[in-house]
Amino acid sequence: MNKRFVTFLPAGVKVEVVAGTDLLTAAGKANIEMKAPCGGDGTCGKCTVHIKSGAVKAKRDSHLAAKIAEQGFNLACQTLVQDEDLVVEIPKTSVMSKNQVLVADNKLNSGISEALSNYLLHVWQLKELLLEKQESPLNGYPLNPLCRCIRLTLPAANLQDNRDDLNRLTLALKKETKCTDINISLPIIRNLGETLRAAQFKVTVLVSEVGGKAEIIAVEPGHSQQPLYGIAVDIGTTTVVAYLLDLEKGRVVETAGTHNRQARFGDDVISRIVYAVDEPDGLKTVYQSIIDTINTLITDLLIKQKQIKEADIRVMMAAGNTTMAHLFLGISPKFIRLEPYIPTANFFPVVKAQALGLRVNPDALVFSYPSVASYVGGDIVSGTLFTGMGNEDAPISLLIDIGTNGEMVLGSGDWLVTCSCSAGPAFEGSGITFGMRAMYGAIERVEIDSQTYEASYSTINNGKPIGICGSGLIDCLAKLRRTGIIDRAGKFQTSLPTERIRIGDTGPEYVLVWQEETDIDRDIVISEADVKNLLRAKGAVFAGIRTLLNVVGFELESIENIYVAGGFGNYLNIPDAIAIGLLPDIPIEKYKYVGNTSAKGACMALLSQEAWLEANSLAGKMTYIELSVGNLFMDEFVSSLFIPHTDLTLFPNIS
Ligand code: FES
Repeated sequence: MNKRFVTFLPAGVKVEVVAGTDLLTAAGKANIEMKAPCGGDGTCGKCTVHIKSGAVKAKRDSHLAAKIAEQGFNLACQTLVQDEDLVVEIPKTSVMSKNQVLVADNKLNSGISEALSNYLLHVWQLKELLLEKQESPLNGYPLNPLCRCIRLTLPAANLQDNRDDLNRLTLALKKETKCTDINISLPIIRNLGETLRAAQFKVTVLVSEVGGKAEIIAVEPGHSQQPLYGIAVDIGTTTVVAYLLDLEKGRVVETAGTHNRQARFGDDVISRIVYAVDEPDGLKTVYQSIIDTINTLITDLLIKQKQIKEADIRVMMAAGNTTMAHLFLGISPKFIRLEPYIPTANFFPVVKAQALGLRVNPDALVFSYPSVASYVGGDIVSGTLFTGMGNEDAPISLLIDIGTNGEMVLGSGDWLVTCSCSAGPAFEGSGITFGMRAMYGAIERVEIDSQTYEASYSTINNGKPIGICGSGLIDCLAKLRRTGIIDRAGKFQTSLPTERIRIGDTGPEYVLVWQEETDIDRDIVISEADVKNLLRAKGAVFAGIRTLLNVVGFELESIENIYVAGGFGNYLNIPDAIAIGLLPDIPIEKYKYVGNTSAKGACMALLSQEAWLEANSLAGKMTYIELSVGNLFMDEFVSSLFIPHTDLTLFPNIS
């Protein structure tokens, strides 16, 4: 097979690939995470590259690829390596900030490193939420970790006490743990005789206890004083965040976050499922991607906390949506996307880290948060636990996670209903011409002058603008409507006296930033097609809320708390989100930003058996509402495609 080298600029990373490989795959092989919202289908236009030297071949003819070629670029996913080595330049706009991993691995220039640290700003803010704003990651639950060290001095065997070693150990453990059911694996039994005698029957036993059952993880000679650590991981479709926890002190020691490496198989869970199911070795590849992502984070945590070793990490807790949970455990997600949308499992077995290839103690136990249904996963269960909305006497509350899917839970201590409204990842930038995730250079706030129609904006970390993130898109939509640039249906008023409104490639558009102010070679615009996509996304979320309320027979006014979770929760401008009809028009005091509740709930469950048991009970208690059944959701959705809504009585405070 012909092998060729591809050198990617500006990083200067060189990889060897077989001729016929597409450049998106080659970039992945070089550990460069390119944007690929459509998963390499050639339909999103986000994976542009510039061929500096060498001959390439198009995978197939496409209108989009031809249009990109007119601007001097190629679509990486549609461009095949031929019989020559290549030098390929990747523009900033085509790469995700995952380059940081590359920086760490390959010691690239400090410019990228700065962009990395800026991007991680949001991740660090999650850390602050846990360490500073909360008294403890336990959030009111008792410190009673899923794994603990028990130091035992067993009666030594002698001619009078001739019980077998295992019996001697389990009896002592039953007394210490109050567990009646103690499980131990054969490899530990094989070494037990030697281990007990190595320190005159003084041993340290690592035990995982849940609900009266104990699993012996390890038996070590002597009374170890080694601290005990665990890792809680939030496996988001977009971002993966890991928390290193001191299990004995009940505190967060370190955090790390990065993009999910699966992003190269598409932005949303459906693209990942399609890749896993349809591609040869797809499941293995997608599974390995998430394991690699988590291992990178573990390495990052341990680099920052040099005194802690892989072997010291004895337990892990993962929370993610149902598809992520399946892929994390290597379970095929095939039936999640096929009617009647049934996952293989909602409750997952506890497995050993070694079986998954995680770089912690090989015997560490790995717990996975339970899901509720195909599109309501452990991340939402984790969020429900964190908010306490299912606690006895809790008032009616709504938890909304506006991420890739738009999941929500409505309920109180007595009942909980949940749904996923397929909002799509528009608020994460997907399907929007200049949409991007919240990272360096993303426009996050927008103002438009109602007289001159001139725009002002701010970007994350004051970087030169390269695109618009979710909070910026919501701001933008609200301001376009407030100034009359778009009507209630999202149509542009092209007769207004400003050069910022013009006809672009796809129809009317508004120029938010002129090219010379940007860090890219184009004007940053928001088009009528973008507005329509955003209306669909916001309409789906609001229709989901109304449908849940309808199902249980309550009105918007009944809701006492609205918990806003998700990637851009803290950066969301609530008044603007209400103004566009994304969120209900109820008093602002009822809204509470709760940040990354998936990660927080994962920490709680790792540190407290009571929290873990409650999480399992919540998952069993939630009633899933399938929105595709009946007309209720669709009727609400159609009514929600206007700004703010066709029924203005639902938005009494919006003019
Ligand atoms: Fe290449 Fe979407 S066009 S990944």
